[in-house]
Amino acid sequence: MEKGFLPLFIFAFFVSTCRAEISNKVGINWGGLGNKLPSPPQSVGLVKSLGAKRVKIYNADPDILNALKNTDIVVSIMVPNEIIANISKSQYLSDQWVQTNVVPFYPEVKIRYLLIGNEILTNPDIGTWYNLVPAMRRIKSSLKTHKIHKVKVGTPSAMNVLESSFPPSNGTFRSDISDPIIKPMLQFLNRTKSFFFVDIYPYFAWAENPKDINLDYALFQSKNITYADPVTNLTYTNLFDQMMDALVFAMKRLGYPDIRIFIAETGWPNNGDLDQIGANIYNAATYTRNVVKKLTIKPAIGTPARPGSVVPSFIFALYNENQKPGPGTERHFGLLYPNGSKVFEIDLSGETPESEYTKPLPAPTNNEPYKGKAWCVVAEGANKTALLDAISYACSQGNKTCEQIQPGNRCYKQDSLIWQASYAFSSYWAQFMKAGGSCYFNGLATQTAKDPSFGHCKFPSVTLQG
Ligand SMILES: *[C@@H]1O[C@H](CO)[C@@H](O)[C@H](O)[C@H]1NC(C)=O
Ligand SMILES: *[C@@H]1O[C@H](CO)[C@@H](O)[C@H](O)[C@H]1NC(C)=O
Ligand SMILES: *[C@@H]1O[C@H](CO)[C@@H](O)[C@H](O)[C@H]1NC(C)=O
Ligand SMILES: *[C@@H]1O[C@H](CO)[C@@H](O)[C@H](O)[C@H]1NC(C)=O
Ligand SMILES: *[C@@H]1O[C@H](CO)[C@@H](O)[C@H](O)[C@H]1NC(C)=O
Ligand SMILES: *[C@@H]1O[C@H](CO)[C@@H](O)[C@H](O)[C@H]1NC(C)=O
Ligand SMILES: *[C@@H]1O[C@H](CO)[C@@H](O)[C@H](O)[C@H]1NC(C)=O
Ligand SMILES: *[C@@H]1O[C@H](CO)[C@@H](O)[C@H](O)[C@H]1NC(C)=O
Repeated sequence: MEKGFLPLFIFAFFVSTCRAEISNKVGINWGGLGNKLPSPPQSVGLVKSLGAKRVKIYNADPDILNALKNTDIVVSIMVPNEIIANISKSQYLSDQWVQTNVVPFYPEVKIRYLLIGNEILTNPDIGTWYNLVPAMRRIKSSLKTHKIHKVKVGTPSAMNVLESSFPPSNGTFRSDISDPIIKPMLQFLNRTKSFFFVDIYPYFAWAENPKDINLDYALFQSKNITYADPVTNLTYTNLFDQMMDALVFAMKRLGYPDIRIFIAETGWPNNGDLDQIGANIYNAATYTRNVVKKLTIKPAIGTPARPGSVVPSFIFALYNENQKPGPGTERHFGLLYPNGSKVFEIDLSGETPESEYTKPLPAPTNNEPYKGKAWCVVAEGANKTALLDAISYACSQGNKTCEQIQPGNRCYKQDSLIWQASYAFSSYWAQFMKAGGSCYFNGLATQTAKDPSFGHCKFPSVTLQG
């Protein structure tokens, strides 16, 4: 009797560990580039309240890992870009990294993924490209030394590792990385049964080409638009599937048709600069709810090239991070505001039916490009001390940038820091936008179409062309 029982038990165990590895649960990317974000323990509570079952962080911050101890949340940590080169050359450094950043937390923290750098193959530091796969191998070997077998090693790539993604069957890796880097990487991923981690943003594909791509097709909302790949005849009903399958075909072309895909990031911005279209709460809520539904539904849908396949994922991102540089959308991918309240109703567990999202969403106002005047003013929640430094910087640039806010001049207002800063930012932007100057000031500034001019004081403006 026992003899018959044992294999069954082993089989059940095997099945359950496999399942755990490729579950369709949706996680969240937790980035921390904001000046007033909740503490790690508070954040863990917020992660749970969003229904996220996994988190991905961009480092191995011990405060964050301590806050995740003894929770059910599955965790992905990251080796920072800067140390990849050194790790790739030294097994000792690799062992040390694992000893310092994994061993003290494992297994109390359910670390399951260890990612080597972030979007390394699109980083301008080309030298590091060649260190990537060697570093992956070293870290995997260090984990083995510590008998840590449950942690998959991978690296997140942006979609521009492909030189062609249309039609999906034409998916091809860039020729500069295909042979020297992607091939050995796929071999490593296959050997270690890991995943190809990829950041998939239908938003950026659509925003670059809104005339040719239908917005509803990018938002999973289209009822009647389909695209049939002329080579495979596979029929697509949304942009996300097209992008996924381009990667499937690119891997197949190199002889690896079966490597599983893990969505390392996907999301839609809830706000952005005036000249960035489609970045609004309505679209962000629509995209996020639809992608969560697609990724959590049982049985799994997969994609046209991989029907029924489970696609594990992380949504981008937990917070609107006001200190991320770059265009305004970069600072507005959060499901939460920095004060922890939701930007829109969302449940990443996939268990909330659409009908239970009852709060009306604000109508989208910027699905067409904005044309007209714009100003650069102080952003909500700006740090007062930092504003003083930003004013001195802005006023020290350009010609007579802050002349009008000097005592005796028409824009002078005593003791109004916000007013002075908004004037200085607008005046700076008006002079430098054409040369690439941005309305950012380390997160202190934001664009507006609302003229802040007042009385006899006219604020300098820029004109956006749409
Ligand atoms: C990498 O190693 C070199 C030589 O040992 C050292 O000078 C450098 O600081 C290291 N870089 C980093 C980012 O640790
Ligand atoms: C397929 O991809 C190649 C580059 O890899 C590109 O030159 C070609 O135009 C693409 N074909 C189509 C039909 O877009
Ligand atoms: C991928 O890994 C499997 C075993 O997991 C092996 O059977 C297969 O040959 C590998 N494929 C390639 C192309 O190396
Ligand atoms: C899809 O349906 C919408 C609304 O019913 C309509 O405006 C649009 O023209 C249709 N598009 C196609 C390609 O049939
Ligand atoms: C695609 O469909 C067309 C027309 O239905 C058919 O002639 C062709 O053989 C199909 N191609 C493939 C690869 O299935
Ligand atoms: C949190 O911040 C948002 C955006 O700034 C604001 O609309 C909301 O009222 C705040 N919520 C609370 C509870 O303070
Ligand atoms: C505000 O800015 C000052 C100077 O830049 C900095 O020292 C301080 O930590 C900031 N405070 C907050 C809450 O971010
Ligand atoms: C400042 O004025 C000088 C001389 O008129 C001009 O060459 C320069 O481009 C101006 N700089 C800016 C930022 O407008």
